[in-house]
Amino acid sequence: MNPVDLWNRAYLKKNAVPSFNFSGADVALTIARTVKRLGYYCLISTSERELNFQTPSLVVSIAKALQESGYPVFLNLDHGKSSEIIRRAIDLGFDCIHFDGSDLSLEENITRTKEIVEICRPRGISVEGEVGKIGGSSTLQDESGKTSELTKPEEAIRFAKETQVDILACSFGSAHGLSKEPEILDISILEEIRKHVDVPFVLHGGSGLPQTEIKKAISAGVVKINFNTELRMAWTEGIKEYLNQNSQDIVPVNILTHADLKVEKVVEEKVRMCINSE
Ligand code: 13P
Repeated sequence: MNPVDLWNRAYLKKNAVPSFNFSGADVALTIARTVKRLGYYCLISTSERELNFQTPSLVVSIAKALQESGYPVFLNLDHGKSSEIIRRAIDLGFDCIHFDGSDLSLEENITRTKEIVEICRPRGISVEGEVGKIGGSSTLQDESGKTSELTKPEEAIRFAKETQVDILACSFGSAHGLSKEPEILDISILEEIRKHVDVPFVLHGGSGLPQTEIKKAISAGVVKINFNTELRMAWTEGIKEYLNQNSQDIVPVNILTHADLKVEKVVEEKVRMCINSE
């Protein structure tokens, strides 16, 4: 399947495609096995940091090996900001690119995003643009939402029309990371944008959002939902738990197997949240 077709398919079926970040091959394989077992598909994603840690060529090799072995995964660059990393990801054959120009002026964001769309479209690579600031980071946060700047619908409408991005990340109430305060989505922002332009949306900061909010987002046209923090937590807790119970064990396969089982549970829960249950 072409990655761009993913969005139409999800939109028509009132589903969303989950995107899961990974920092190592064991987690990528766990994600791939879980979505395959559930008969679904997903994006496996790396931020610039997760990509550079593993090295871009290794990340691509992991994704290609999974795809060639029949796992339904697409490789996504998450929050790519620098031109170098975007160029590298395109050349290496990423399926989807998220260009995060949210630190730029709207004008500059439009110009840079348009250039990326022009390069990616003929190659069948999906481009995600971003308008508004989605705060926080994929860690345990105290008040992550406070650094967000909600998307102004008029800016998003102009951005989507001029750039022709495949999907659009908006800031509408979620933030990266897990905070104690509940996150409430402001769906009216998406509804206003959709009155003027037919662009599918991306929900960042999926960790911690309850099923009710996810469902509201999907009904408003969200086709991709990003999850990272809860996978990180599960993996780390798995490592700690295993070593607490088996302090003499130094065999990575034993330790990682335990951590990956915890990740599998989170992936399964999030996939089920993204599939329309009606
Ligand atoms: P969480 O870390 O809140 O799950 O968000 C992940 C994300 O949006 C990556 O872009």
